[in-house]
Amino acid sequence: ACFFPLHAALFLTRLYGHGITASYGEMCYHDNSLVSASLEALIQHLVPTVDYYPDRSYVFTFLLSSRLFLHPYELMTRVCHLCVEQQRSGDALLDKIRFREVAPKLVQLLTEWTETFPYDFRDERMMRCLKDMTHHVARGDEVRYSWRAMQQMTQRLIKRLSALGQYEEAVAALNAVAMERPASLKSKQASGQRSDVLSVCDDPFILAQQLTHIELDRLSFIGPEEFIQTFAMKDPLENHKGFFRKRKTSNLEAYVNWFNRLSYLVATEICMPVKKKHRARIIEFFIDVAQECFNIGNFNSLMAIITGMNMSPVSRLKKTWSKVNTDKFEILEHQMDPSSNFSNYRTALRGATQRSETAHSSQEKIVIPFFSLLIKDIYFLNEGCASRLANGHINFEKLWELAKQVSEFLVWRQVICPFDRDRRILQYLVTTPVFSEDELHLASYESEGPENNMEKDSRRSLRWV
Ligand SMILES: *[C@@H]1O[C@H](CO)[C@@H](O)[C@H](O)[C@H]1NC(C)=O
Repeated sequence: ACFFPLHAALFLTRLYGHGITASYGEMCYHDNSLVSASLEALIQHLVPTVDYYPDRSYVFTFLLSSRLFLHPYELMTRVCHLCVEQQRSGDALLDKIRFREVAPKLVQLLTEWTETFPYDFRDERMMRCLKDMTHHVARGDEVRYSWRAMQQMTQRLIKRLSALGQYEEAVAALNAVAMERPASLKSKQASGQRSDVLSVCDDPFILAQQLTHIELDRLSFIGPEEFIQTFAMKDPLENHKGFFRKRKTSNLEAYVNWFNRLSYLVATEICMPVKKKHRARIIEFFIDVAQECFNIGNFNSLMAIITGMNMSPVSRLKKTWSKVNTDKFEILEHQMDPSSNFSNYRTALRGATQRSETAHSSQEKIVIPFFSLLIKDIYFLNEGCASRLANGHINFEKLWELAKQVSEFLVWRQVICPFDRDRRILQYLVTTPVFSEDELHLASYESEGPENNMEKDSRRSLRWV
């Protein structure tokens, strides 16, 4: 059911007859919730006026997803422009009074923007626009209230962005260390010189705590828009080719890389020891770590560990596995079983989310989702449903749904990790060298020789480099 939107009607009565038409009055509602609208109407809906401010969920949803249709810079320019222009009456004094009234609301909107999507402001045009608005606000603001608020907001933003810069540099430096190929990895014999995980930490609970630190650190730097940015070049109606090509989803990628690293680390630790008994002990240790991750609500590390254990160089070590009690592992694997669209995992995740909502301690608040699945869900949500309707309207129901998934992630992201940090263990987990896939196979064959012709061929094709 489409009808003339209340907001646009109010907007018309607010104007003192300056011949503005309601061309943006193209919004469809169903049961009071916005289901579709033209892009123009949606932009207008974001613009605060003297007696209107968009509701928070709309602000979040539209700032998040508008990038599917236009660049954040374009949106910001238009919102600021509309907000200023709507106050113009032709009378300079009246304009000034009215802008003074609307300025705090514009500041509030920009504050929500800078706090929720700070990475948008890595674009210097966004920063320039913010600066221009600060000047504009200062001009009409004798009490300097809004001006000061703008200043504070900008300072907080700059602090956030510099923390992000430092984080990115730190991750790059750690990755560089992890990529070095020390002699200890050049052959399995030499790998005996590399310290193994048990010599760094032999308490599964402590190791799971340190993994949780790494997960939460890396999650906290992912911008909500990174989930959406990857789809942003796909709208055929908008011809802004390449706008986002340089835009980064690098924190999201860094996080996915961490998952892969943890899987390889687990496989390396298991394949490295020369003695079967030692390998079996490491498998049992990681099963205990996985169990602790499950208890903490750290599903991402749990899944990475299971993935490492299921890599073929590890799973083929039958003699080693025969020494391991796998009961606990089978239960954990069942929890993360992909069948029926990961229904067991989804149930466990809901349980953890409920625990988090009623938590009494920060430890109970922790929910770290199996991240690749979250990305996949959002990807299919985007693919499975058009962003535009046949009449050119934007399908806002879809945008609500995207925002719902991403905002759940924002709640999980903000948990402060309650455990003590152990620098030595953390350093080991993020920088100790791990075997490549070929090296894993070689190490595995040296532990337990090839069993059939296929494995023999595979063994022959591999060389230590
Ligand atoms: C899997 O479950 C999620 C969450 O319930 C849902 O969004 C998604 O569409 C489902 N995927 C398939 C292929 O059924």
